[in-house]
Amino acid sequence: MPELVALRRQGPIGVITINNPPVNALSPGVPEGIRAALEAMRGEEAIRAVVLIGGGRTFIAGADIKEFGKITSGEKQRGAGLVPFLLEIEDFPKPVVAAIHGAALGGGLEVALACHHRVAAPSARVGQPEVKLGIIPGAGGTQRLPRLAGVAKATAMCAQGDPIPAEEALQFGIVDRIMDGDLAAGAVEFAQEIAGRGEPPRKTRERGEKLLRDPSNAAILAAAREQAAKKQRGMIAPLKAIDAIEAATKLSFEEGCRAEAALFQECLFSDQSKALIHVFFGERAVAKIPDIPPETAAIAIRQAAIVGAGTMGAGIAMAYANAGIPVILKEVEQQALDGCLARIQKNYSDSVNKGRFTQQWVDERRALIQPSLSYDGFGEADIVVEAVFEGMDLKKQVFAELNKVCKPEAILASNTSSLDIDQIAAATLRPQMVIGHHFFSPANVMRLLEIVRGKATSREVIAASMALARRLGKVGVLVGNCRGFVGNRMYHQYQRQAQFLLEEGARVEEVDGALYKFGMAMGPLAVGDLSGLDVSWRIRKEYRHLEEPGARRPLAADRLCEMGRFGQKTGAGWYRYDESRKPIPDPEVEKLIEQCAREAGIERRKIAPEEIVERTIYGLLNEGARILEEGIALRPVDIDIIFLNGYGFPAYRGGPMWYADTVGLQKVYERIRQFEQLHGALWTPSPLLKQLAEQGKTFAAAG
Ligand code: CAA
Ligand code: NAI
Repeated sequence: MPELVALRRQGPIGVITINNPPVNALSPGVPEGIRAALEAMRGEEAIRAVVLIGGGRTFIAGADIKEFGKITSGEKQRGAGLVPFLLEIEDFPKPVVAAIHGAALGGGLEVALACHHRVAAPSARVGQPEVKLGIIPGAGGTQRLPRLAGVAKATAMCAQGDPIPAEEALQFGIVDRIMDGDLAAGAVEFAQEIAGRGEPPRKTRERGEKLLRDPSNAAILAAAREQAAKKQRGMIAPLKAIDAIEAATKLSFEEGCRAEAALFQECLFSDQSKALIHVFFGERAVAKIPDIPPETAAIAIRQAAIVGAGTMGAGIAMAYANAGIPVILKEVEQQALDGCLARIQKNYSDSVNKGRFTQQWVDERRALIQPSLSYDGFGEADIVVEAVFEGMDLKKQVFAELNKVCKPEAILASNTSSLDIDQIAAATLRPQMVIGHHFFSPANVMRLLEIVRGKATSREVIAASMALARRLGKVGVLVGNCRGFVGNRMYHQYQRQAQFLLEEGARVEEVDGALYKFGMAMGPLAVGDLSGLDVSWRIRKEYRHLEEPGARRPLAADRLCEMGRFGQKTGAGWYRYDESRKPIPDPEVEKLIEQCAREAGIERRKIAPEEIVERTIYGLLNEGARILEEGIALRPVDIDIIFLNGYGFPAYRGGPMWYADTVGLQKVYERIRQFEQLHGALWTPSPLLKQLAEQGKTFAAAG
């Protein structure tokens, strides 16, 4: 029997343990091992029932995701999948009990569903998260789960992909019992109890009571389709998962499994699935920094402090408190501090009202935030995050103060969105402790944390920052120090193209509409209105002296700001806003843009949505290629993860660099060259892009 699976006998119960660390994925060898163990016990009279349990930290996290890439690339033939194996478990003549701790996800839950009974540790979670990988359950999950949990619950689980806790699984009949204490011992006892009943094993596929072929199924499925179209806009897999569940409500189990297999296959070979699998591994890859081995000593973070209780300071304080880390929040003015605390309080109350957190949880978090108007207590802080106004002189002053009040081993992080970390570090006598922690607004919600490495930043500070990001529930991505770092530097090109397109003839809602349809969470002009047009206006003014004389620049954004149209906060920007904050296209803005175009000598024309997407997205990724050349991003995937988590880029397109590979770098390069001929030097292709295109390579292969 392969070592991945072990069998021991405990009296009349056979215990099969899966040992495939780290997460007991169903890699080649695991199903074979389980099958061999079952076969060994089939004819053993002394064995009355079987327990299937995971060794290590979890039950089974699903199919081995690495295998999917081998199948779609043709490296490996797809066999019959797990379906026949699960039928063998279900048809085993003695009761098989799945004992679940950690997680039973995807193929892992499907294995458990094929067992005759399921028991779970109180902290266990079960789910069918396949849609998050652009696929659907492929081993009978869409057929067995509705038989156990009912059509509505199964549809929600398979179409949305969020795992549920053990308690909820019990409530819906997915697990039979929750086991406090030692799970293995409890499961063996449970198996003995079942064996003692002497009943034939209960096959999930033969249970029809919750699969009512009644008219309410149609309404459940229709509502799920509507929700998927809205909440998982542009994604194929959720709709296919619902189709598969519908098959369960209309067909026999065998026919339903065949329908599921066809839908699974369709999803597996889709571009969306390849992109989402890239994202799954990408999110884990960004945590690996080539020159910082995992054993690097990390600095323990027990107490934090923040300087500046503005928009960002408030969000960052909540992010720390939510992770259970006490945090001092320092302001200069009482009024600003009170305002900030009121915003924090409101945010927490809203979360309670929406049922996201309990009042007790919120009260405990709120108590971790300690307001202050002085540096008292900063001496104990293991990390300080500076979030004062964006200005080099002020930042230097604050860091010089921190140098005096903080202990030598404290991490000093700046939340600057554009300034030079090395200059800020030079205001201290310990530049090795200084780093950029670029949070995104709202900082308690957005998953991205750009971690900016200065030239002196120590490895320990970087390792601690990466670990901290994870603790805060964020994806930390390490980037180099340059103006705008990775995200904002690339986004600037995208925004700029969006504005050029307006002057060339596209309407505001056409630009936003084309990019929304492409899958962006919001169009670039609506984003500008949301974050405030004055912010980038101030930055543009500060850096104007660095612009090449005579270089083309869009005019309308400055004019809007001169008119006091800063976006949503002033009720008007690129759009007008009513009470409900709904953007309303504004003829005034169209007139203003026409005027700007006349001044710039641009003849306006009709612009197709495809061109809008190419101009903006290719602008973004040409800059991304430069960032790679300069080593500001470690790998193309780092850029992808930044855009997915901080800028609303659609995950099913894998991120800008992955998307470029999907389009084909030759095609992208040729189009950029055409733009260069039409629009000038701003479009000079990055040498890396040129080289890869000419060699017929991809970013993924080069990165
Ligand atoms: N296949 C292959 N590798 C996997 C894996 C899987 N199903 N799940 C996790 N891993 C790998 C990760 O890539 C990571 O590798 P590195 O250490 O090399 O980076 C390692 O296992 C540990 O994973 P995490 O860092 O994510 O560990 P965690 O403790 O934070 O989370 C988890 C554990 C909740 C199980 C999480 O890994 C997870 O969600 N895994 C994926 C679950 C999933 O999507 N399952 C469905 C698979 S598709 C399927 O099953 C189709 C079907 O119907 C047959
Ligand atoms: P803000 O204007 O909302 O808040 C800044 C706060 O700092 C003010 O309340 C001010 O009173 C306070 N402050 C100034 N000097 C101080 C001092 N010496 N001690 C303590 N408090 C002081 O600004 P915001 O938007 O929160 O930005 C802060 C920083 O975060 C800036 O560097 C900005 O570039 C960066 N950032 C902003 C993002 C955003 O979307 N707003 C996103 C990411 C980064």
